[in-house]
Amino acid sequence: MAAAARINCSSVQNTLCFLNPLQCYSLNSKASHLRTHLHFRRKLLSSSSSRRAVFCTTVTNINGGEAEAEPIVLTTPLYYVNAPPHMGSAYTTIAADAIARFQRLLGNKVVFVTGTDEHGEKIAAAAAANGSSPREHCDVISQAYKNLWKDLDIAYDKFIRTTDSKHEAIVKEFYSRVLANGDIYRADYEGLYCINCEEYKDEKELLGNNCCPTHLKPCVPRKEDNYFFALSKYESFLEDTLTQNPDFVKPSFRLNEVQSWIKSGLRDFSISRASVDWGIPVPNDSKQTIYVWFDALLGYISALSEDTEEPNLENAISSGWPATLHLIGKDILRFHAVYWPAMLMSARLDLPKMVFGHGFLTKDGMKMGKSLGNTIEPNDLVNKFGSDAVRYFFLREVEFGGDGDYSEDRFINTVNAHLANTIGNLLNRTLGLLKKNCQSTLVVDSSIAAEGTRFVEDVEKLVKKARVHYENLLLSSACEAVLEIGNAGNLYMDERAPWSLFRQGGAAAESAAKDLVIILETMRIIAIALSPVAPSLCWRIYSQLGFTKDQFDAVTWSETKWGGLKGGQVMAQPKPVFARIENQAEAENVVGAAKKVVKRK
Ligand code: MSP
Repeated sequence: MAAAARINCSSVQNTLCFLNPLQCYSLNSKASHLRTHLHFRRKLLSSSSSRRAVFCTTVTNINGGEAEAEPIVLTTPLYYVNAPPHMGSAYTTIAADAIARFQRLLGNKVVFVTGTDEHGEKIAAAAAANGSSPREHCDVISQAYKNLWKDLDIAYDKFIRTTDSKHEAIVKEFYSRVLANGDIYRADYEGLYCINCEEYKDEKELLGNNCCPTHLKPCVPRKEDNYFFALSKYESFLEDTLTQNPDFVKPSFRLNEVQSWIKSGLRDFSISRASVDWGIPVPNDSKQTIYVWFDALLGYISALSEDTEEPNLENAISSGWPATLHLIGKDILRFHAVYWPAMLMSARLDLPKMVFGHGFLTKDGMKMGKSLGNTIEPNDLVNKFGSDAVRYFFLREVEFGGDGDYSEDRFINTVNAHLANTIGNLLNRTLGLLKKNCQSTLVVDSSIAAEGTRFVEDVEKLVKKARVHYENLLLSSACEAVLEIGNAGNLYMDERAPWSLFRQGGAAAESAAKDLVIILETMRIIAIALSPVAPSLCWRIYSQLGFTKDQFDAVTWSETKWGGLKGGQVMAQPKPVFARIENQAEAENVVGAAKKVVKRK
């Protein structure tokens, strides 16, 4: 029971702190006159020890003393390098990047971890098929991921490769710790193995001809003398943990799935392979390598290890573990919500605060993936239409958590309607009018321009709405709230018709000049609120409003408050910030890019 109680203790903090330790502080502050909050100090004992000291202390801050904020550690899965990235792999990373950027806007310290999963049978086979050594193959594909992340404006903090030596050292230490705690034993195993999932399967979950339901390929019979992890020992611990901390798995419907797996009984699983050379050797038996999942999951911890420090668990953990949020696709939920927490419990390490399992990007209803060969090339879309369109489309059009089918028509329509029309066109025509009538200069502060209108209130409500959606990982709804600000701006512009007020001259022209300030202030707010999703576009908007890149980079969410634009500020020359996909030929190009599928032989 000790472990369950310990986890329960941290779950209080987890719930309050979800993705916002600063907010956690203020929530606690409200609850107590003494501005008190729980603070957990973690200290690892030596790996041979079966117990770990967890000091749950109380830190008192009177009169708003600075609370020590824990970093928000956000992870994507570590991607298999059997083939270059496709749109499905890019999806998790785009979402993670938007969440990381939003948290940075709130002023939080973020450690955004991504990387590549490079060991195991599947990777070795892919390298052999390419005629390269596993190492060369991994170098090439891992670099392809890094290149794509650059093209997609992904601002990660740590990129871990499971072939990094610091990772290997940490995996070995972790394995030895679990072994010392009595949770690893040797046994024979016989079963059906899906090489693409890198997982033994239960016969009852397979399709005809023993095909894996995800990869539609037959599983192969395997018999091995392996080392096993005593997962079954952790059944009741896991059950208690999930009951006491239901936010551990999100969305909530995925929690039910995890709970039913646990209820139906957990079987020990094999964590070594005698037949696979391309892996980390088992510490006490160099004839076997560590199972790729037992290896890769540790990447979330080894990524935190600073290159200047000795690569060991204690150092890595002290740099930010436990993770605040693991973002994953639903196909790897069992590994993250069952195997991983049990492994961590065995090693007496804290559990991550949350695992969020999103849905699949599908093509004709089937999961888009390397093994089915029905992928969309993210590079093609990015090269033609830029990272903003790709990022915006997938975050806006796929409800985060559910599946979403890709359609070229929807891509074109959404991007044109939202980014080119609602946002881009509004900015462009306002700047055009300002140039013509006010020498591109704001006549008055935006706070003064909006006096006596209800518009500011409407915008502020929508900004709040967007913030709450971001905080709750409702990325599509966050985009929608920002778009509503754009719609409100367009409506205001059409109702006020400043172009005709300018023609009237006198007081009418003066109020038209104020109207332009109001719309441009709205654009400034949109540029901040949408920047987690479409950072390059938002920088272009910001720059048109006369700000520098340094100013854009330093912007915070608090600056979405009305009143940032001041009288006298000179706007840039109007230049479209987002090119509409105008004609049939261009539309056909998008279709062509999207249709470029990698055909499976
Ligand atoms: N290497 C493991 C993860 C180890 S994490 C310690 C792995 N790699 S993967 O490359 O196969 O998948 C990585 C992620 O991409 C998974 O979260 C998976 O769900 C996601 N996607 C792969 N295809 C996808 C779609 N078609 N749609 C959305 N996400 C998908 O699993």
